[in-house]
Amino acid sequence: MIPIKNKRDVEEMRIACQAAGEIRDRLAAMIQPGVTTGEIDQEAARLIADIGGKSAFLGYHGYPGQLCISVNEEVVHGIGGARKILYGDLVKIDIGVIKGGWIGDTALSIPAGVVSEEVQRLIEVTEQSFFKGIAEVRAGARLGDLGAAIQQHVENNGMTIVREFVGHGVGRKLHEEPQIPNFGRPGTGPRLKAGMVLAIEPMVNLGRPEVRILADGWTVVTKDGRPSAHYEHTVLVTDGEPDILTWRGAR
Ligand code: MF3
Ligand code: CO
Ligand code: CO
Repeated sequence: MIPIKNKRDVEEMRIACQAAGEIRDRLAAMIQPGVTTGEIDQEAARLIADIGGKSAFLGYHGYPGQLCISVNEEVVHGIGGARKILYGDLVKIDIGVIKGGWIGDTALSIPAGVVSEEVQRLIEVTEQSFFKGIAEVRAGARLGDLGAAIQQHVENNGMTIVREFVGHGVGRKLHEEPQIPNFGRPGTGPRLKAGMVLAIEPMVNLGRPEVRILADGWTVVTKDGRPSAHYEHTVLVTDGEPDILTWRGAR
């Protein structure tokens, strides 16, 4: 069963999602050469505590970080530590905030200064693919319509979709039904209904789509070592336009 949120649930969830969006953007603004990924994690802990929230990731299946921070060929689930961000790095932050019992989940790819043209293009295509996807999101549409739109935009641009990790329903739990692949066939999959809340999160590779997991048991990297980008919002399905609950300003 895919949970349906009522009006009051949505307004409570919006608070958690707006907090997640604000913290995402404050952490994004800290990304600069010389900062360590562990310092970003510590700042995430402070910002989440300041709003009276909790990390939705810390302790999730034993995950040790406050947020996920992944650099260059790291796709998702990187753990903050001693690694220093270098000029030209591509940094992905993914943050889940619990507030009032509800979760907001959002991720962004940030260039540390000027990145190569192909990496800039990767960031843009990943973000665009999210919006191509949510253009299909409305009550009555099928989940496969969303995945197909994301996949088509990415592949038309010569890039590839990570298949082993997918988006998901989100609410009181981080991962609820349904699973939301960033690929698929139009007209297939569950039908969307107003009140569903979806974490839609394309993970896009410049090279081949295959990934593997590092010895830390968490960090997902591309097998070919080429860069990967990630973009995620928590989105409410309505009878009209989708409502991007984690949107803040220009993000
Ligand atoms: N990347 C996942 C998502 O956005 C959450 C990470 S779970 C963790 O849904 F345990 F790795 F943090
Ligand atoms: Co996330
Ligand atoms: Co997510």
